[in-house]
Order: sequence, then structure tokens, then C-alpha cells
Amino acid sequence: MNINGSIALVTGAHGGIGRAFVAQLLTQGAAKVYVTARDRASLAELIEGGDPRLVPLVLDVTNADQVAQAAIAAPDVTLLINNAGYAAFQGAIAAPTLDDARREMEVNYFGPLALTRAFQPVLQAAGGGAIVNLLSMAALVSLPVMGTYSASKAAFLSVTRSIRAELAAQGTIVVGVLAVQTASAIGNRLPEPRMTPDEVVIDTLATIEAGKSEEIAAGSLTQGAYQAFSADPIAFQAKMSTRLPKPA
Ligand SMILES: NC(=O)c1ccc[n+]([C@@H]2O[C@H](COP(=O)([O-])OP(=O)(O)OC[C@H]3O[C@@H](n4cnc5c(N)ncnc54)[C@H](OP(=O)(O)O)[C@@H]3O)[C@@H](O)[C@H]2O)c1
Repeated sequence: MNINGSIALVTGAHGGIGRAFVAQLLTQGAAKVYVTARDRASLAELIEGGDPRLVPLVLDVTNADQVAQAAIAAPDVTLLINNAGYAAFQGAIAAPTLDDARREMEVNYFGPLALTRAFQPVLQAAGGGAIVNLLSMAALVSLPVMGTYSASKAAFLSVTRSIRAELAAQGTIVVGVLAVQTASAIGNRLPEPRMTPDEVVIDTLATIEAGKSEEIAAGSLTQGAYQAFSADPIAFQAKMSTRLPKPA
């Protein structure tokens, strides 16, 4: 699928990786980009340049009405980018309550699942199009310091694979993005070194251009981590399991 001429919708468009998606989509010739966020004010900086291809929309991915409205307001989308995410940086046991664990599942799993279901007919009408799901290496390897976030991304990875299988018949490409620490509000809480959001985005858009419907290790740091994981998944998990959350 060509990025040039595509019509994209990006969730969490004002975040670190979301902004990079918007900038790269414009650079690579997208015809229109729906930039979405929970709060319209947070999109002001993104649209202040006045690029007529940018269309702001209010979209909290956990709000069923807003999800349904988005599919009505953006009926020409060919590329859905499920980028919004939430990380509480809590241990599964150390967290004081289950509130953050539930929010992570709502934002990182139920939200993009609901949005994908809402846009399925839109993508079908477009001849298939593509979906990008921002997963994480934490979908493959549990990080106890972000235990419930890891679980939400593992759920998202699992359903990404099911969605890919279900939508293959309508020609929709589904790219799952595995990434390690990347400079952003979330990534800046993780240890250095960090990738730039552009590295993640450029690899992702290249995968769509190549027509590959698969998971990718986006960016050089992720590729190194993915190789180490693939060589010895048990040892890799054991190493991550030494990094424990602080007790409450
Ligand atoms: N940075 C990393 O190291 C890293 C690594 C692997 C994967 N990821 C994933 O990459 C994606 C982008 O994150 P980021 O690193 O760019 O972090 P970020 O700068 O914190 O961006 C996250 C974005 O998601 C939005 N969001 C949160 N809850 C939402 C909701 N209910 N509805 C709509 N938008 C919501 C945030 O908006 P508000 O400002 O309104 O909260 C923000 O725009 C996430 O899915 C994250 O899990 C990040």
C-alpha cells in the first residue's frame, strides 16, 4: 500500500510517536491525516502550521460514542494507526489498586479493538487498506516494573494476530509494531539509550509500503533486543525479571 495518497487516522496524535507519524505521513505524501486526541486543545500545536491535509478530531479511544462517531466523521480512511497508549509503570502486585491495570486494558486493548471494529467497514470499502497497532517488546517479554502494562500489550499482540487473520479476506494489512524504549512521555521513564520516534515510524511505514502484514521489530535498538529474545527467550525473560518494582 502506498503512503503517498493515503488517508490516515492517528490516535494519540500529539504524543511522541503520534507526532512523528503525523510528520512522516505528511512528508511521504498522505492526502489527509485525521489527527485525534482526547482533548482538542492538545492538537493546537500540531495543526498550527495550517497544513490543509490535517483534520482534527476529538477521540478518546475508551469512549464508545466517540469511537462510533469517528468512523462516521472519517469515512474515507485507508490507514488506521492505533497509536494511543497508557503506561502506569506499576507492578502487578505492588500497585495499590487495580485501577491502573484496568485503565491499561481499556486504552491499550479494548480501545484499539473497538476502533478497529468500527473502521472495518471503512477499510473494506477502501479495498482493504492497512492497520498499524503500536504494541511493544513488552508484549513478548513481561517487565515486572510495568507488569500490568506488559499484560495489556500481550493482549493487544494476541488480538492483533486474530484481527490480521480475520481481515485478510478483505485485503487489510495489519502491522504490529514491537518497539523498545523510544523518546516520548512514556519512553523517557525507561533507561537510556532510547530510539527516536522517527526510527519507529519510518520502519513501520516502510513495512506498509512493502505490503507486509506482520509484526515488526521497529528501529535498531528493538532489532537488537528482538535478536537476543529470539536466541534465548527464557534467558531474556529471566534478565528482565531481575528489574522489580519498588514495594508500595
Ligand atoms: N515510548 C516507548 O518507549 C514505547 C515503546 C513501545 C511502545 N510504545 C507505545 O507507543 C504508543 C505511543 O506512545 P508514546 O511513546 O508516543 O507515548 P506518549 O507520548 O505518552 O503518547 C501516548 C499518547 O496516547 C494518548 N492517550 C492516552 N490515553 C488515551 C485515550 N484514552 N484515548 C486517546 N488517546 C489516549 C495520550 O494522550 P493524552 O496526552 O491525552 O494522555 C498521548 O497522546 C503507545 O501505545 C505506547 O504504549 C511506546
